[in-house]
Amino acid sequence: MRLAVFGSPVAHSLSPRIHGLFARQCGLQVDYRAIEASAATFAGLVRTLAEQGARGCNVTVPFKQAAWELAARSSEEATRARAANTLVFEPDGTWYADNTDGPGLVDDLAARPGCRLAGARICLLGAGGAAAGILGALLRVRPARVVIANRTLERARQLAERHADLGTLDTCSPVEIGARAPFELLINSTSAGHDGVAPALAPEWLAPSGLCYDLNYGSAAEPLRLACERLGIAYSDGLGMLVGQAARSFQLWTGQRPDAAAVLADLRRQH
Ligand SMILES: NC(=O)c1ccc[n+]([C@@H]2O[C@H](COP(=O)([O-])OP(=O)(O)OC[C@H]3O[C@@H](n4cnc5c(N)ncnc54)[C@H](OP(=O)(O)O)[C@@H]3O)[C@@H](O)[C@H]2O)c1
Repeated sequence: MRLAVFGSPVAHSLSPRIHGLFARQCGLQVDYRAIEASAATFAGLVRTLAEQGARGCNVTVPFKQAAWELAARSSEEATRARAANTLVFEPDGTWYADNTDGPGLVDDLAARPGCRLAGARICLLGAGGAAAGILGALLRVRPARVVIANRTLERARQLAERHADLGTLDTCSPVEIGARAPFELLINSTSAGHDGVAPALAPEWLAPSGLCYDLNYGSAAEPLRLACERLGIAYSDGLGMLVGQAARSFQLWTGQRPDAAAVLADLRRQH
């Protein structure tokens, strides 16, 4: 089965390795490649892949919105996010778009002993593409409320408006988080870690046994991981979400649900 991930930059993507491990688990032959694209070449490269008989592809930054716009049909998750991380090339020649980031995050959180999302108070830091991709799935597990805190408040408000029918949502700027605390779960979806910066954080924002979950992983996760360590806050990076979203994509293409926990353990051993 032919598959790929499109992005820019994409050379360091872990997706080929993750899907290779899934394929081995499931006894499937999979040729999964990372393909560098630009705004000018993205649509054409996806079309070529589909014409070559591929089953689908993953799409990462900065093409998730373009991927959603290319598809004839899309899941509710992708429609709300206005972005897709997965395309399925259907046998009739049409393309189906889904966004598995949110379910991947929820799967990873649900696998943690003692982590209860139903009824939890959640603060979502950031209102960019990743926040849009996870908000619908978060609200579907019925938290008590979700507060979206973003540097650009208007972006948080627009995201909240698109999801207002799914649950109790509030928005604020990061300096106002303290007035809305405490939270059982603080999710960092900002890209600040890529610049070596951790978003501002205070221990009193977290309820006792609260968790700070960072969508970042690898070196981009280091600033917040170190800040949490310093402040005595429980922390998780987003590697489990990466594997979780990949497992959901793999299932869409193959009909088989791989063992994400085994692949995550494998990656952690080597990082
Ligand atoms: N684990 C996974 O599977 C997974 C999946 C998807 C994404 N991610 C990670 O999630 C992160 C966000 O991706 P994205 O696609 O949402 O990016 P994006 O669309 O560019 O959004 C970036 C967000 O970060 C905020 N931000 C950037 N620099 C900041 C700073 N110095 N201080 C405070 N806020 C800052 C932006 O605020 P403004 O709106 O004010 O600019 C915006 O809310 C990336 O680091 C990405 O690697 C991980």
